Amino acid sequence: MPTLKNISTLYTCRDEGNQSEVHPVKNAAIVWEDGEILWTGKESELPAVYKAKEVLDAGANIVIPGLVDCHTHLCFGGWREDEFEMRIQGKSYLEIAKAGGGILSTVTQTRAASEDELYEKAAGLLEEIMMTGVTSIECKSGYGLSMEDELKQLRVYKRLRENYPVHLESTFLGAHTIPSEFKNDRSSYIDLIINEMIPKVAEENLASFCDIFVEDSAFSLDEARRIFDAGKKHRLIPKLHADQLTSGGGAELAAEVGAVSADHLEQISDNGVHEMSDKGVIGVTLPLASLYTQQPYLNCRRLVDGGVKVAVATDFNPGSAPSYDLRLAMMLTCNHGRLTPAEALKGATVYAARAMGVEKETGSIETGKSADFLVLDAPSINFWLYHHQAKKPEKIFLKGSVLA
Ligand code: NIG
Ligand code: FE
Repeated sequence: MPTLKNISTLYTCRDEGNQSEVHPVKNAAIVWEDGEILWTGKESELPAVYKAKEVLDAGANIVIPGLVDCHTHLCFGGWREDEFEMRIQGKSYLEIAKAGGGILSTVTQTRAASEDELYEKAAGLLEEIMMTGVTSIECKSGYGLSMEDELKQLRVYKRLRENYPVHLESTFLGAHTIPSEFKNDRSSYIDLIINEMIPKVAEENLASFCDIFVEDSAFSLDEARRIFDAGKKHRLIPKLHADQLTSGGGAELAAEVGAVSADHLEQISDNGVHEMSDKGVIGVTLPLASLYTQQPYLNCRRLVDGGVKVAVATDFNPGSAPSYDLRLAMMLTCNHGRLTPAEALKGATVYAARAMGVEKETGSIETGKSADFLVLDAPSINFWLYHHQAKKPEKIFLKGSVLA
């Protein structure tokens, strides 16, 4: 029964209250057993029954929940550094995609790789990500776009989940774009997703969510409705890439279909904010994608003030967001999204846990939840996000164990 003591401020990040309420406790302690939190509160109030044998010292540092990255495309073949240079030289993300780059270039490279090769690459990245303090991660398919290659990506995630202690949830993103072999026959590809891919993904229990890139250049609202319908029949919960490049009613669709989250949202309409707030859809901001594609940032303040809970994620992928630095995404959410550090913290912990359906087991430091927390060498969360450093946490606890 280990106890962590000497915590200057413990940011519990309980879900209650508004986005700015992170429920801090000064001079705190945490007790856990078998990976589960038994007690947390003021150290001076630690019940005698928990006077533990194994006492760990937080060194008067702050403690926050393990970070939750609720939107990544972790498994992919190759990289696309040539597109980075092209964007700097003035080509847009869409122009590059139309010229044969973009998502389809990663599809070619992902199809060419074996499951084992993809596993080794994704595992290496996951190990690096875990060392940044991410203890929960959502991972999407969407670079296979054929039955066999979508399953290949999802099987990589299944193996990662079995082999690493991180909380990992998978999302089927067969509707990422239309693959080139269906360029002139998009309805057949949509039929393939609905009639073959979704039933197979569900049968093999390979995903919890069904995501769709809803955009002029990708899938229309009506196409998305049909795909989500099929997904729901197989217990896949809807999620969307919505309103990223154009304001196309993606946020409203998220509310209509009962999505758990709508992600990107840079071009969200006023009505979209209203509908999402009404239906409790989490808005996920992905500022690294704005940074790398030189697109406007989402004004998260507008969403929070409109009653939407905003989660923060990296969108880690080889094209529009080739960085898994969630701390940087949080800092950008403050500087460009206009959220306070406390709001960004709630966004990268308990709200992100909601966006990936793991809020009952993690995302906040509370009795009964997984012992996932980080000791940070900073006097406050304000300081930690203001003084941005490429530095790993002092200590990472995942399911109660210290990561090396
Ligand atoms: O979330 N928006 C669509 N999909 C990804 C980009 C993927 C890529 O460029 O490979 C995104 O930004
Ligand atoms: Fe994405």
